[in-house]
Amino acid sequence: MGRNKDKTAVTRRVVVWDLPVRLFHWSLVFCIVAAWWSGENDAMDWHMRFGYAVLALLLFRLIWGLVGSQTARFSQFVRGPAAILAHLRELAAPGRMAAHAGHNPLGALAVIGLLSVVTVQAVTGLFTSDGIMVDGPLAGKVSGATSALMRTIHKGNFNVLLAIVGLHIAAILLYAGLKRLDLVRPMVTGRAALPASEPAPRIVSLFRAFMVAAIATAAIWALISFA
Ligand code: HEM
Ligand code: HEM
Repeated sequence: MGRNKDKTAVTRRVVVWDLPVRLFHWSLVFCIVAAWWSGENDAMDWHMRFGYAVLALLLFRLIWGLVGSQTARFSQFVRGPAAILAHLRELAAPGRMAAHAGHNPLGALAVIGLLSVVTVQAVTGLFTSDGIMVDGPLAGKVSGATSALMRTIHKGNFNVLLAIVGLHIAAILLYAGLKRLDLVRPMVTGRAALPASEPAPRIVSLFRAFMVAAIATAAIWALISFA
């Protein structure tokens, strides 16, 4: 138990992000940086390996959004315009903002945006060919024109990805600066100081996460091996 500085709310530290969500997040960041770095440095075999890892991570997160812990579920954090407006009003009001279990209604939009843009990047990669040396595993399954279109999207969408990641980081800095709310520590340790009035979210077993990770990895492996 503790009191925050304005002494209005009693808080206690509880797990808000389960280990699978945290591992997913930081692995995704690592694999995207590694895919970019290997792509820029002509290590295309590694580029594709990191790309496959991104695909497996995305598939994992999609399933975890249905069967994972409470704060990981899409049904818990995707909210309507009224909730988003209420959150914007809270943002504009002076003073600190209390930690919240899970994504806030605005952050949820960013999450859907980030996941969608990364999905476009990784899926178009499968159909991309440079025409000389490297082919994505599905490039030969579509016409030359489709593959060329996928390549254009793969290259162009990377700038969209950079922009949305930039916004993501700017928003996190904004919450830290304006609302004195540190979102990064909970994404590392899992824990945040929640107001006593807010119940601790339900966290599901790691065994379930292993099962989902195994299914996601096997599905991507099968796609690459048998396509
Ligand atoms: C999120 C994951 C990915 C990111 C961030 C990413 C990023 C990039 C970038 C920035 C380039 C352009 C490199 C350059 O020429 O300057 C590129 C090229 C390429 N990527 Fe990806 N990629 C990802 C996933 C994939 C996947 C899954 C595959 C296929 C398995 C793939 C296949 C290719 C190929 C074949 C090229 C060469 C295109 C060319 O030079 O014409 N990528 N990628
Ligand atoms: C390639 C770069 C990045 C991508 C694609 C990315 C993507 C994401 C995604 C998809 C989520 C939602 C997590 C989930 O529910 O599964 C998220 C949340 C989060 N990310 Fe990132 N991220 C990136 C970089 C970063 C960096 C560099 C930081 C740290 C400065 C960061 C800090 C966070 C935090 C704190 C959250 C939780 C936000 C909240 O409390 O609602 N991310 N990110």
